[in-house]
Amino acid sequence: MIPIPAEAILDGGSFRMHPGLRLRVAAGDPDAAVAARYLSGLLARSRGLSLAVQTGGPSAGTIAFERRSGLGPEAYRLEVLPRGITISATGFAGLLYGAVTLWELLPPGRGEAYVPAQRIRDQPAYPWRGLMLDSARHFQSPAFVKSMIDWMAWHKLNVLHWHLTDDQGWRLEIRKYPRLTAIGAWRTPASVGAPSATRYGGFYTQREVQDIVAFAATRNVTIVPEIDMPGHAQAAIAAYPALGSTDGAAPPVSARWGVHTYLFNPDEATLSFLEDVLAEVVELFPGPYVHVGGDEAVKDQWRASPRVLARARQLGIDDMEALQGYFTDRMGRFLAARGRRLVGWDEILRPDLNKNAVVMSWRGTSGARAAAIAGYDTVLSPWPTLYFDNRQSTLPSEPPGRTSVISLEAVYRFEMRDAALDAAQQRHVLGVQANVWTEHIRTEERVEWMTLPRAAAVAELGWSPPSRRSWPDFLARLAASLPRYHAFGIHVADSVFAVDGRLKATAAGAEVSLTNQAHVGDIRYTTDGHEPSNGSAVYSAPLALAPGGEVRAATFVGGAQVSATWSRHIDRAALARRSSRELDLCSDGLGLLLEPRDAGGDPAGIVALDIMNPCWIYRAVDLSHGGRLTAAVAALPFNFEIGADVNKIRVGDARTANGELEVRLDACDAAPAATVALGAARGPATLPAVALPQLPGRHDVCLRFARPALEPMWALDWVEIGE
Ligand code: ACM
Repeated sequence: MIPIPAEAILDGGSFRMHPGLRLRVAAGDPDAAVAARYLSGLLARSRGLSLAVQTGGPSAGTIAFERRSGLGPEAYRLEVLPRGITISATGFAGLLYGAVTLWELLPPGRGEAYVPAQRIRDQPAYPWRGLMLDSARHFQSPAFVKSMIDWMAWHKLNVLHWHLTDDQGWRLEIRKYPRLTAIGAWRTPASVGAPSATRYGGFYTQREVQDIVAFAATRNVTIVPEIDMPGHAQAAIAAYPALGSTDGAAPPVSARWGVHTYLFNPDEATLSFLEDVLAEVVELFPGPYVHVGGDEAVKDQWRASPRVLARARQLGIDDMEALQGYFTDRMGRFLAARGRRLVGWDEILRPDLNKNAVVMSWRGTSGARAAAIAGYDTVLSPWPTLYFDNRQSTLPSEPPGRTSVISLEAVYRFEMRDAALDAAQQRHVLGVQANVWTEHIRTEERVEWMTLPRAAAVAELGWSPPSRRSWPDFLARLAASLPRYHAFGIHVADSVFAVDGRLKATAAGAEVSLTNQAHVGDIRYTTDGHEPSNGSAVYSAPLALAPGGEVRAATFVGGAQVSATWSRHIDRAALARRSSRELDLCSDGLGLLLEPRDAGGDPAGIVALDIMNPCWIYRAVDLSHGGRLTAAVAALPFNFEIGADVNKIRVGDARTANGELEVRLDACDAAPAATVALGAARGPATLPAVALPQLPGRHDVCLRFARPALEPMWALDWVEIGE
């Protein structure tokens, strides 16, 4: 079970769940019928067990959904006795969550099953257990959003913060202003060389949103829509340039990542426009919260605009942060008049912020502390631990994202309680949320991979009392839960269990060492080409393999395979080759895993690089016989908004027209030992081999590009150093 219930007491015996059973709900309790149908659907989908929902009648020998007064809004009781099961709750959410917990009590498998008798009393630690989905940077289909809401429910996650607008896309149909989506929902992706011919985009029609909202209600998920302002506004300004703060031409919908300069202006006409937008938003989203962003609004454009400065003077405001405060306050009052609470990122926290606002702490947890002390409700969603665009491991199976590793364990061990807050201040902490920013998460499968199972850890942080939480126990429960994810076709990451295999060349072939991130379970392996199974040898010490050999390995917990199979052939070339992801980066500026294919190039691997300093180190290469270095490279667009930091990137040091790959030994600031000129071609290319000098011992080989200009940004795909 994830999250672990607050209290579970095992009794003797068990209840047989079989196809003849009925799920009984009282007449006149449509909410209970929704919860019962949900359970029926889960059982049918995950184990082919089909139980009908029946209204009224006796409940002995059945699974009964009952109301009881006095429990909290999401609390429930689940009683499993050999003669029947009762799920009772005061509210709909409790009935739903009782149903989910019962489903989770079933062992994996198909058809009928026995549920151990027990009594569960359960309620959440926090009322806000959320995920933020960024549908602006990359668009996900309505069906995907619903599937996410569906699995959120079985994690007892109850808030979907939906990031619908940003510089790169406006995704929500607004009937009064059709250009927001006609123009703002589409962009031309960045590319190297000739502009891309494709357009990227999509938006949610109001009908689709209504359908998603209605579905979310059946899963106890509140959707908190976000319309970001005054920054992250470039797509809207592309559609309606008069909303902007410059008198220049309309910008394009951005195909760049980072902090952009376009801000909505604070004129009355623009504030009215945004109120019109929010009027449609509150009609669509019945939940109590509307998020108005407020993050990363750099004020360069405001400071440079005589019109904005005049407006500020007219309002009696002399500082640009206070002007944003005025902006926020206008929106807050508009929302309050419609019975809604404003939510914003922690930049909105100012002395004059209305006390009804909710502050979402993302720049670490200091915003939450300051907000709670000042008497504001707050949600913990701090960078970097709860930012799911960070990768989960260093394994090559991780999709594009940021190179910083936020492991499942790091998320699980996130500390919810701030010792600096007293009990009254603690009560302002509404809960926890992880943010799935999708700049680098192009596909729905990858959204799932980056989100799960880390969202399961968030669910437990938000739901379970600290006394019930334990990392080893959570891992064991996660391993047991994998069949549920797989039954629903969810691309859950196996990063915590996956085999991390390392090869070291030896005189006789290779030494292979195997581990996994959590040091959990048994790693079983074969060397005869067969898939590893529960009967395969258990790995305990490095394996010696001869050239031509093959090793396959996977992690097993409780007899079940919990990771994908990892395999390697032992051949000289494979031993000598390293992908950029297997090399060390020379620096830790802004590390990303990028996919050259995203930029329209031919397929090349996912590359790891620090965009501030694309430079890699191949450690401890034996050069006692010299070496031949072959590298494959790919060009990428430099589509990053990083402000003045761009001036820190070393460019303009090329010696030839297209630049060179430079190879240095031992130190990255040594004189180059070899250089390879880059061709004019922009696609992935394998460069001509170069010779490395014969030197005693092992040497670090440092690789970087000298380039004529910022564009294109060259990345190493792989490098091979052979004899
Ligand atoms: C944020 O990450 N800009 C809230």
